[in-house]
Amino acid sequence: MDSEPFTVVTVDFETVLPIWQNEIWPGRVTPIKPIAPMTYLGGYDMDIPNLYKPTFFAIFDEFGRIIGTTSGYQTSADHFRCRTMYVNPEFRRRGLAVALVRAVEDAAIKAGCDLSWGLPRVSPMMAMFEKCGWTQVSEPITEGMEFGPNVYMMKDGLRPKKKRKRRSRKKSSEIVR
Ligand SMILES: CC(C)(COP(=O)(O)OP(=O)(O)OC[C@H]1O[C@@H](n2cnc3c(N)ncnc32)[C@H](O)[C@@H]1OP(=O)(O)O)[C@@H](O)C(=O)NCCC(=O)NCCS
Repeated sequence: MDSEPFTVVTVDFETVLPIWQNEIWPGRVTPIKPIAPMTYLGGYDMDIPNLYKPTFFAIFDEFGRIIGTTSGYQTSADHFRCRTMYVNPEFRRRGLAVALVRAVEDAAIKAGCDLSWGLPRVSPMMAMFEKCGWTQVSEPITEGMEFGPNVYMMKDGLRPKKKRKRRSRKKSSEIVR
């Protein structure tokens, strides 16, 4: 099916929570929090929830139901995490997930970050991120992953590079010694 234009909007945590509880983590043992303290490529920074605010993204259908969602937030000065991606099975393969990743990347750039990362399950999530230009940067991880295995994926070079002014150099033949 051809991609359609989808409008990605931001919503509050309560709006996406039922999808997190019922679709992403049904029966999850550890508590579901709007933001997690995990850092890129492993480890934790317990200050993340105090330092940064998550943004919850959603795409609605004409009846006001959420058909796709994800969230994003900074995990350091330069890193921005994409978390909790989910597209309603009836609306898959129409570009919703790609639109949601783009929204996260835009938020990362706005926050001044150069690298966006995620920790998706070993699943079609990986092909989806690859389609967005992301790269797998770890082997599948099972330890500590309640719904794993998961892999780290990332895209860097998000910030547009500043053009460096070229200094005009005199040709050696023009140099007066
Ligand atoms: C993975 C997921 C987000 C993809 O959503 P989507 O809206 O269907 O993805 P898109 O239409 O934007 O697909 C973009 C690309 O991703 C890849 N892709 C998506 N689904 C795929 C699948 N089932 N198999 C292989 N590649 C797939 C394709 O390259 C696709 O491009 P194409 O359709 O032109 O071939 C969706 O299947 C989903 O929500 N799955 C469950 C996610 C989940 O488990 N979340 C928990 C947290 S990890």
